[in-house]
Amino acid sequence: PSIFVITPTYSRPVQKAELTRLANTFLHVQNLHWVVVEDAPRRTNLVSNLLEKTGINFTHLNVETPKSLKNPSWLPSHKPRGTLQRNLGLHWLRENFGTTPPPEGVVYFADDDNTYSLELFEEMRYTKKVSVWPVAFAGGLRYESLKLSPAGKVVGWKVAYDPKRPFAIDMAGFAISLRLILEKPQATFKLDRVKPGYQETSILQDLVTMDELEPRAANCTKVLVWHTRTEKPGLGNEGKYGFTDPRMEV
Ligand code: UGA
Ligand code: MN
Repeated sequence: PSIFVITPTYSRPVQKAELTRLANTFLHVQNLHWVVVEDAPRRTNLVSNLLEKTGINFTHLNVETPKSLKNPSWLPSHKPRGTLQRNLGLHWLRENFGTTPPPEGVVYFADDDNTYSLELFEEMRYTKKVSVWPVAFAGGLRYESLKLSPAGKVVGWKVAYDPKRPFAIDMAGFAISLRLILEKPQATFKLDRVKPGYQETSILQDLVTMDELEPRAANCTKVLVWHTRTEKPGLGNEGKYGFTDPRMEV
């Protein structure tokens, strides 16, 4: 089965570094198709050139998040990030595989700043509906995980942040079978549910019930993905000394 990885990404000083790290990981994974969706008015040369050079199978798309849906930096309010981009990735899958018999496959939403082990991809590769596993550094914990019954069914969430959520699980903690994505064309990330932590619920509710979730990573006893976040580099000396070239691609 193929793995379709959907990655939203946006321009900032660390973007190329983030995508380089992801490419270096994905190059080791068999039958992986990388759907990179830029949050930008057009596809950029930086991302196009990077994708061409990696040799990974990819699809390069773009959709700009309107200003009204972006987080103003001075407001603590939270607007969902990467939402329109993930939905465009889903739309591309449905357009491409909607009519022909689809390949066996699984869909994973991989943000550009997280850290992914190679084992993770083999855990998700055979997914009937939705597979799930722990995620490190999410919700103020070393790791968030799932409560399993003695029989190995998911019966709840081991999270500190809002455990009442219908699906209290980070974006990095689940993968969806391509077949299910195609069977439920109305399943998308909803933009109106802006409450932090409800993005994942907004699509999973359309697809499965809790008891249908398929635990992976040795019954959720292993951490195979880390919700790392990259520190903003200090650029306070830029432009002060006359030798840095703003045209240099970084
Ligand atoms: C957490 C979750 O892990 C994300 O999956 C979720 O989208 C996000 O919260 C949310 O609440 O919206 P966090 O690290 O806070 O993640 O989010 P980012 O990594 O900053 O953004 C998630 C993805 O969206 C990244 O791939 C990023 O490149 C992309 N993004 C971010 C955009 O495409 N446009 C933006 O303006 C910001
Ligand atoms: Mn992130």
